[in-house]
Amino acid sequence: MTATTERAVGSDVRRIDGPAKVRGRAPYAYEHELDAQAVFVALVQSTAARGRVTGIDTSAAEAVPGVLAVLTHENAPRLGDVADEIVVLQSDRVRYVGEPVAAVVAETSEVARDAAARVVVRYDAQPPDVELRTDRDDLYAPEQLMAGFDTDSVIGDVDAALAAAPVSIDVTYETPNQHNNPIEMHATVARWDGDGDAAVLRMWDANQGPHNLVPVITEAFGITEDRLHITSPYVGGAFGSKAYTHVHQLIAGMAAKVTGRTVKLELTRQQMFTLVGHRTPTIQRLRLGAQPDGTLTAISHEVVEHTSQNAEFAEQTATATRLMYAAPARRTTHRLARLDVPAPTIMRAPGETPGMYALESAMDELAAELGIDPVELRLRNEPDRDPERDVPWSTRNLVACLRQGAERFGWAGRDPRPGVRTDGRWLVGTGVAAATYPTRRRPSAARIEAVPGKPYVVSIDASDIGTGAWTALTQIAADALRVPMDQVDLRIGDSRLPKASGAGGSTGITSWGPAIIAAAEQLADREVPAGGVTVTGESGPGEEAERYSSHAFGAHFAEVRVDQDSGEVRVPRMTGVFAVGRVVNATTGRSQFLGGMTMGLSMALHEESVLDLARGHYANHDLAEYHIAANADVGEMDISWVDETDDRHNPLGAKGIGEIGIVGAAAAIGNAYWHATGRRVRDLPITPDKWFR
Ligand code: MOS
Repeated sequence: MTATTERAVGSDVRRIDGPAKVRGRAPYAYEHELDAQAVFVALVQSTAARGRVTGIDTSAAEAVPGVLAVLTHENAPRLGDVADEIVVLQSDRVRYVGEPVAAVVAETSEVARDAAARVVVRYDAQPPDVELRTDRDDLYAPEQLMAGFDTDSVIGDVDAALAAAPVSIDVTYETPNQHNNPIEMHATVARWDGDGDAAVLRMWDANQGPHNLVPVITEAFGITEDRLHITSPYVGGAFGSKAYTHVHQLIAGMAAKVTGRTVKLELTRQQMFTLVGHRTPTIQRLRLGAQPDGTLTAISHEVVEHTSQNAEFAEQTATATRLMYAAPARRTTHRLARLDVPAPTIMRAPGETPGMYALESAMDELAAELGIDPVELRLRNEPDRDPERDVPWSTRNLVACLRQGAERFGWAGRDPRPGVRTDGRWLVGTGVAAATYPTRRRPSAARIEAVPGKPYVVSIDASDIGTGAWTALTQIAADALRVPMDQVDLRIGDSRLPKASGAGGSTGITSWGPAIIAAAEQLADREVPAGGVTVTGESGPGEEAERYSSHAFGAHFAEVRVDQDSGEVRVPRMTGVFAVGRVVNATTGRSQFLGGMTMGLSMALHEESVLDLARGHYANHDLAEYHIAANADVGEMDISWVDETDDRHNPLGAKGIGEIGIVGAAAAIGNAYWHATGRRVRDLPITPDKWFR
């Protein structure tokens, strides 16, 4: 091995998994066990939103040649004590439209689907209650929010400060139900290897970290950890929907148990609108008070959102508001309506995405009210410490992002007047919004095996959901071991590898990277004998979490054009500048920002899952009717980052980049829409019809 002083981290390395993916040699979950003569599962889903199954007739389905089993709550294996949101085929209760009430296992997927259509289910059903409104009398305050955040926060006398404010606004924004739609549908291949109490549940599964699933699946099937082996080397996107165990993994395990075969279960695109979560809709009231010079005197952010009958999911929508800007009086609240809907889940920057849409739209409205440039308004309210926790920032470079973004975008000299620029039929405007996302690290372990003459084998149950983790972790390992990248043989995506946190919360690099570095440091102290040596390193949250407030920041600028005849909205260009600590890989990093900004554009203009209030289902449950931004919707994306290293947070100086790209992007577009037209659309998405109301 040749030692090298060249650094891989920070250089622009192509994806090491790229060639295998292009050649079709990177197996995704469903592509495993091609020679296993697998059998297939099709689901029967409830048409009732709330009630009980009073009878299931499976005889016609069972009579179809090739059908091996029809599982219902009457005959399915009993599961251990799993969370309510994923308990499946265990009782006659129905809690949302689409809940699985039967599962057909057959020799081919076609037979399974055909037979599933022949299962007859009778219900004792009540009308669905799926409408989120602020005047519901059953809104309640959850005990706490996701990630352990307090439900409410109050500092000072907000109402008095608002009443006394020389300038104030009081506006309400709404964001719709949205669905995670990774390209790869959720899929599980399951088989029980061996017999009786020694049988091992073998799974190949699309997820955001095999270890994330281990506690629930072992509990469900009453097995010890050594009897579960989940492999997940390549994943085709996730955005949060593959972070946790869902019902299909349990059904696959049950079907494999009952038939004794290798079982394949891939959700249809339609089923992804009920079985793997969604982003809760929100209604958010924003009140801001300010001095004439723009200094904020009061901030109030009150959120109403939904949760489900079978699980409480309390999204932390207003938590970013607690730290973005300082004001002597501040308040945030979260209230939930428990509806007959599937359990919501995390979706790219859960909380920050809808919450910062509202806050950053309100800041724009306040800027207009004050007659102050919206970039300048943010600069004037830049806090020098975390105003909520009263601790210093580890680094906060929002100002640099705003300045650099304004420069790149050509913001200077912008005419603040709305609705006055035309280009033919098009009204033209520009908008800005800020972004933030927390920086955290989670417990993770990594192992390095060093054998003379061979590449180092670096093992960690990390997960690459398309982000570039294969490449970035190889770069980090190469630098930590002081060798070129081809001397690192990385192994990830397997529950038998050292336990690591999942790919979520933008914590992958900040959690896995330091674990690999810690292992390499162990190795540096050891002599490598002829037979080789194996070391393990660990990393987890340290005192940095107490001493500092650590967040990534960013600024979005957008140009919007609105057709005065049709209401069509176009976004010809966006500029995003981010402060995210050290960027490990410029190519994959840029790709994360680009994906996030595109998803924000999609949120601003397209994405909305429509609940049918009478039937209780998501009416537009496919990609024909649930619109996402397509290539032609995306114009020029100018993406850059400021030179920043956050050495106070972790030894890599990185902050995590998977989510911040979406945060604030929709607000910049909404603000530009107002600047173009003079009209505020406060309920996303900004579809053409809203021009005519
Ligand atoms: Mo992301 S929503 O934390 O998977």
